[in-house]
Amino acid sequence: MKTVATVVSVAVLALSAPVVRAADKKVDFAKDIRPIFKKSCMKCHSLDPKKPKKHAAGKFRLDDRAAAMKGGRSGQAIIPGDATDSLLYRLLNGPVPRPAQAAGLDDEKDIPPMPKAKRGRKWKPLPAKEIATIKDWIDQGAIWPAK
Ligand code: HEC
Repeated sequence: MKTVATVVSVAVLALSAPVVRAADKKVDFAKDIRPIFKKSCMKCHSLDPKKPKKHAAGKFRLDDRAAAMKGGRSGQAIIPGDATDSLLYRLLNGPVPRPAQAAGLDDEKDIPPMPKAKRGRKWKPLPAKEIATIKDWIDQGAIWPAK
């Protein structure tokens, strides 16, 4: 009988071990998130040291933690713990109505999806895996260590 119990518990262990879902994995800003921002966003969402008067696209910076957390022209873009309400995450999935437009105050066009396509080009979303990693990062509290 003992062997049956052993076999059963070994089987249970073997089954449960690999079932750690991606979402349960702790996302690390420096390792998992910054490289995505760097590769796909910071070209437009950084201050240019050569043109300090020129603001970042959408007045939104991803090269500075405090500025990123504050948000851009449309307000806060990262809501720690709530990716689906975060403008940054929503824009990775498609266009988003501007705050004023959402309130019916004007008919300005939607905010285009990110990363922004060149004029006349079709939007190419980030790989699904990167979008999922950013979602997990925000849902886990958008932890962005100071250094
Ligand atoms: C080629 C330049 C470019 C790239 C690359 C780019 N963006 Fe943008 N982004 C813009 C521009 C321009 C706007 C302003 C669009 C508008 O309001 O019409 C904007 C707006 C935004 C906003 C909204 C800011 C606000 O408050 O209105 C967010 C959030 C954002 N981008 C996130 C990202 C993220 C995340 C990435 C990388 C995955 C990215 N962007 C890549 C050009 C870019």
